[in-house]
Amino acid sequence: MLDRPLILGIETSCDDTACALIDGGGRVLASAVSSQMAVHQPYGGVVPEIASREHLANWPTVSREAFRRAGVEIGDVDGVAATRGPGLVGCLLVGLSLGRAMAFALARPFHAVHHLEGHLYSPFLDLEGRVAADVPDRFQGLVISGGHTSILDVDRGRVRSLVETRDDAMGEVFDKVGKRLGLSFPQGPKVDELAEQGDPGRFRFTVPTVKDELFFSYSGLKSQALREIETLEAAGVRWTAEAPADEIADQVLHRLERHHAETPITTLAVSGGVAANRLLRRELASWAEVQGVDLRLVPLIYSGDNAAMIAFAALLRQRLGLSDDPRTTVVESRIPFESATA
Ligand code: KG4
Ligand code: ZN
Repeated sequence: MLDRPLILGIETSCDDTACALIDGGGRVLASAVSSQMAVHQPYGGVVPEIASREHLANWPTVSREAFRRAGVEIGDVDGVAATRGPGLVGCLLVGLSLGRAMAFALARPFHAVHHLEGHLYSPFLDLEGRVAADVPDRFQGLVISGGHTSILDVDRGRVRSLVETRDDAMGEVFDKVGKRLGLSFPQGPKVDELAEQGDPGRFRFTVPTVKDELFFSYSGLKSQALREIETLEAAGVRWTAEAPADEIADQVLHRLERHHAETPITTLAVSGGVAANRLLRRELASWAEVQGVDLRLVPLIYSGDNAAMIAFAALLRQRLGLSDDPRTTVVESRIPFESATA
């Protein structure tokens, strides 16, 4: 027996074509992701026009796989969710149009989900086949990805931004520094891998602070790391390992500590592509243990972009009786993220 409602999730905001099916308990029945990594690799980054065409080409295979693995049919779907932004417009259009058309044709509720809202709740998802954890009424989210570095406060679905980056997102530092070291796209996971073999005390980078203000700033770290690379290269060093992953963690811990001292954090949900970083996961886990914070680290399979998180955010909205009009919803490349659910 299916635990209703069965939600179909679609995510095409960047370079991953993803389709997922989750049931009423937030149990992921199937989460299929087709990565375009190989297609974009020669260009050193995502090429928007190619990415949107790839979404169109990949969707039939990805969705068929998801339905097959979940053992359900299109007629079983009780709600349809797609990412409406932020992201690459051409890419978003593919997924959102698909979702709108399906919801309309099936006459089922439609959810145009903010990409960040998907990441935000993803730490509560469990592995395929297992019911999701209960989402507490109140928690803080740390979303760290290629486009976002945010600490968010969630109060019964109302989302308030507490700390944002003033410049670069954390993922950008990994990608740009990795690129400079000659690593291929996407550089984040490769820098992570190399950093594990490096010496964490080898380089010292400063954590930027401004007295009474709390914000992230990663462009300084990026510049410092790039300058360090120049200096070492001028001295004849050629790259095999070493990476500035250390300060990345220091700054997060510093911000969390400052925030925690003012407003105690009870539950911290950490998500986004960079949440896969091993050093960060370790440092966050020991910080949370010392502070007595209930830490929810996103399962590795849902750290990068996926559709299970989009379907889950939609399930939470559907439980609240919220939905969007499939005839009028439009994509938006940049949208603020506050009060997303309520
Ligand atoms: O959430 P995501 O897949 O897409 C966005 O919404 O941005 O995040 C992608 C980012 C990229 O910058 C990628 O290099 C980074 O996450 N990333 C990592 C790791 N895995 C992915 N950064 C550090 N360590 C990793 N293991
Ligand atoms: Zn993302």
